[in-house]
Amino acid sequence: MRHYLQSVFACALLLSLLSCASTRPESQAAIASAHPLATQAGIEILQQGGNAFDAAVAVSAVLAVVEPSSSGLGGGGFWLLHLEKQGRDVVIDGRERAPLAATRDMYLDAQGEVIPRASIDGPLSAGIPGEPAALAHLARHYGRLPLSQSLRPAIRYARAGFEIDEHYRRLAQFRLDALSADEGAASIFLKDYEVPALHERIVQADLARTLELIAQHGADGFYRGEVADKLVKAVREHGGIWSAQDLTDYRIIEREPLVTQYRDMRITSVLPPSSGGVAIAQMLHMLEDLDYQNLKGTPRLHALIEVMRRAYRDRAEFLGDSDYVDVPVKQLISKKHARNLLQDFDPQMATPSSELRSVFIDATRAADTTHFSIIDQYGNRVAATLSINYPFGSCFVATGTGVLLNDEMDDFSVRSGTPNAYGLVGAEANAIAPGKRMLSSMSPAFVETEHRVAALGTPGGSRIITMVLRAILDFYQGASAQHMVDLPRLHHQYLPDKVYYEPDALSADQLTELNAMHYELKQLDPGFGNMQVVIKDKTTGALDAASDARGAGESSVLSVTP
Ligand code: DON
Repeated sequence: MRHYLQSVFACALLLSLLSCASTRPESQAAIASAHPLATQAGIEILQQGGNAFDAAVAVSAVLAVVEPSSSGLGGGGFWLLHLEKQGRDVVIDGRERAPLAATRDMYLDAQGEVIPRASIDGPLSAGIPGEPAALAHLARHYGRLPLSQSLRPAIRYARAGFEIDEHYRRLAQFRLDALSADEGAASIFLKDYEVPALHERIVQADLARTLELIAQHGADGFYRGEVADKLVKAVREHGGIWSAQDLTDYRIIEREPLVTQYRDMRITSVLPPSSGGVAIAQMLHMLEDLDYQNLKGTPRLHALIEVMRRAYRDRAEFLGDSDYVDVPVKQLISKKHARNLLQDFDPQMATPSSELRSVFIDATRAADTTHFSIIDQYGNRVAATLSINYPFGSCFVATGTGVLLNDEMDDFSVRSGTPNAYGLVGAEANAIAPGKRMLSSMSPAFVETEHRVAALGTPGGSRIITMVLRAILDFYQGASAQHMVDLPRLHHQYLPDKVYYEPDALSADQLTELNAMHYELKQLDPGFGNMQVVIKDKTTGALDAASDARGAGESSVLSVTP
């Protein structure tokens, strides 16, 4: 018996030593993404000796294959990187840009009316993709592994196929008409022009070949030669305006991130052509002015809604691609401007958006995009939000390439004051111009306090910015990754002048009180947003990760031998 106990004790000791070794904080890494296969691909690449940036290539590329509704080689995005060794943060802007033949009024008819769906369906709605260039750039300048190795999992899933889930089915149903209208898209993503059954396999042989060409030749495998020729031919044959020069001219841009301070928390996010960082900075400055941290109950919600309204008003008026228009970033994110914006803040009552400035109205609709967050065993971080805009983008696949094109052109203000698919209005700053990048709401972010640091983000069109804001404030209160992704959504975007909320966001009393303050309240359909968060405890090195239960993603904290 004693011998038995001794050996049990020895075993327990050994096990605890082993488990200690396997959870040694400095060797931990974490990934949260919108699809289990993408998270697993990231893990696979880390275990092969890759860093967060190699894993980001693998995750992005697998998402392009297995979550075709949300992002892909035919789209773009923003990859926010933290390079631990150099103590440097940088944004890889792989946003799509307008074709060189684009014109300001290209979506208006002779009477100046918006042509329905022209900026949403088919190749005329597609900007020039940035994702292939961004992946090649990430591997070349930041990764430890060759691009061909990091693309391997994606090529595997494109060739062998993947099983579709409910998320896929729901979005394919939403875009059934547009997908059915393009033979290329229908033959890959539908079965006999219907949404395929659950667990049906989607095989993408042409996409596998395109990925292989990128693996062999880097960005040139996409922007020049066989794939480029096929892309341009197919787009032009179906009413689009791309040229070979559009593809050879495309460049990613490395940008400085926008760094903001909220009390003793540091927030790092993206500058134009995304509006996310600026809007988040503005809202945090206003909240600091309103002493948000010490507000409770309905006054707290009221403050939150009013700062959202004001930041989105500025977004509509001032934000656009800063390489093409003057965006007064410095002024917008100044504390003085935050104070000015609050001059008409009424502590008792909603400020009607029409009294801030008159623009127009519409409603927001369901949509898609994707986000993933990574912290590697070296302390590097990636927060990346990628998009082809609407679910399944333009629903157009360029023949022979397997590339599903984006419909990101709809993120431009197609006509001043006319709302886009997310109900967002814009003006001159975001008007269409050749080569210009369309304004985005994508807001990949890092947040850091004395003790913790997080990488986070979410899809959600116009609501991305407010979801990220709320998660940042939650992090500041000490929330776990799970709590941050679970947090019920609450959103206002200036126009339409409505507060959108998930059922759990407001209590019955708060609903009554907000009604009495003249807010128009609209309950959100469940399942909005798909947040992915990873957090590192700076003191212990322990990692925490969570993937939004509203989506079908997966998070993982793992041990990697550095
Ligand atoms: O860049 C943007 O802001 C949009 N194209 C993002 C679209 C999106 O997040 C849709 N997701 N639900």
